[in-house]
Amino acid sequence: MSLKVVILAAGKGTRMKSSLPKVLHCVADKPMVQHVIDAAASIGAVDTVVVVGHGADQVRQTITSTVQYAEQTEQLGTGHAVQQAMPLLEPNDTVLIAYGDVPLTRPQTLQNLVAEVSDNNLSLLTVVLDDPTGYGRIVRDANGNVIGIVEHKDATAEQHKIQEINTGILAGKAAVLNELLNRIDNNNSQQEYYLTDIFKLASDQGMSIATHNPDDEWEVTGVNSRSQLAQLERIHQQNIATVLMDGGATLLDPARIDVRGSLQTGQDCIIDVNCVFEGEVSLGDNVTIGPNCLLRNVSIASGTEIKANCVLEESTVGENCAIGPFARLRPGTELAEQAHIGNFVEIKKSTIARGSKVNHLSYVGDSVVGERVNIGAGTITCNYDGANKSQTIIEDGVFIGSSTQLVAPVTVRKNAVIGAGSTITKTVEENQLAFTRARLRTVDNWPRPTKKPKA
Ligand code: UD1
Ligand code: CA
Repeated sequence: MSLKVVILAAGKGTRMKSSLPKVLHCVADKPMVQHVIDAAASIGAVDTVVVVGHGADQVRQTITSTVQYAEQTEQLGTGHAVQQAMPLLEPNDTVLIAYGDVPLTRPQTLQNLVAEVSDNNLSLLTVVLDDPTGYGRIVRDANGNVIGIVEHKDATAEQHKIQEINTGILAGKAAVLNELLNRIDNNNSQQEYYLTDIFKLASDQGMSIATHNPDDEWEVTGVNSRSQLAQLERIHQQNIATVLMDGGATLLDPARIDVRGSLQTGQDCIIDVNCVFEGEVSLGDNVTIGPNCLLRNVSIASGTEIKANCVLEESTVGENCAIGPFARLRPGTELAEQAHIGNFVEIKKSTIARGSKVNHLSYVGDSVVGERVNIGAGTITCNYDGANKSQTIIEDGVFIGSSTQLVAPVTVRKNAVIGAGSTITKTVEENQLAFTRARLRTVDNWPRPTKKPKA
């Protein structure tokens, strides 16, 4: 059997009050519809069909995976939407129907639903809600068999009391779905072709309907407004925080961490409040992250401490480094073990070898820095001449005095010393002292200015 997933994503999402199609709004920095596509892939879907309508071009452009598209130009109902995907399915396919605005269903839940599908049944995900208002109600007979679904707007007062609702997520053979969908009509309060109508038709012709429940309600929560989006984001973040703690990380407040991508942590990492992790981030053992840090696509080896208020992007940090507070590592930074990067230091596209220190107020860009180098406060690599970038090479054991400008391209060879306040424009050889410094002049008894009396 081949599993195909159909994702309904044609709706407008009026209540989002957005120019962005609803399914492109993000949870954890990933479009909702992409979450569903990824879940489909993780349960082995051989093909995913996204039914697009409102903002179809934008949806197509944003989705990064290889999927098929079916266009629903007019939103005539969920049943009509599924019908648009039918030409892309084979009769013998097992088809899972999901929704682009229900992003957090566990793959295992979808798997359970799919596992139940046979040639002569439907499999439906339902949930019992304290307040079922607005949802389609699951109608069962005296034996507990599902005999239909009635939409809230079409339900009787008696049916409104039913608390078991339709999540919308279901599975069945393509041939079965196709045959049933061909028989639905739009004679209902919304004049829509309801997907839900297939359940009465199936039941009437003696098919069985298997139902499943998700372990958690949030798995089937859809997003219709920005406040629902924010609620789901919080739930998702809480779930991620729990996984991190279960994996051996200490979060000083699990309610104040945001992971927008994947975060791998070794043992005994400590993460303080208000840290944001984006893309692929990995932390070795015993890594400490201070409050208010942003880490995007970085890998940090064991024992390193990142102090408060640092921003690290596309960088690699070795073992037992110390970074920050208030440090910025820009893309292409590679720090070897025991490097120290202090406050108000910016490093870009540079490698810094073992044990070197850039502790205060410096910019190091397009540079190769050797081992045991000490770069004094206020050092700037002048890597840009207004047109091109050039490289600075600082070899092992160099000492750079404070407030030095290194005008690239330039090389400072092993164990050289640069005097404070120098502008270095040519190669400094091994063991040399180099400095450029205007002669100090002094004027005795200098008359300091005094304030003019007010007119
Ligand atoms: C639907 C179900 C209801 C269920 C509820 C769960 C039907 C008739 N009703 O109701 O039983 O309790 O979901 O949230 O199925 N869509 C399209 N094309 C369309 C219509 C809808 O792509 O023509 C998409 C929407 O973008 C949305 C989803 O299908 O993502 C559900 O549509 P919506 O109109 O919100 O259905 P509900 O009234 O919520
Ligand atoms: Ca809905």
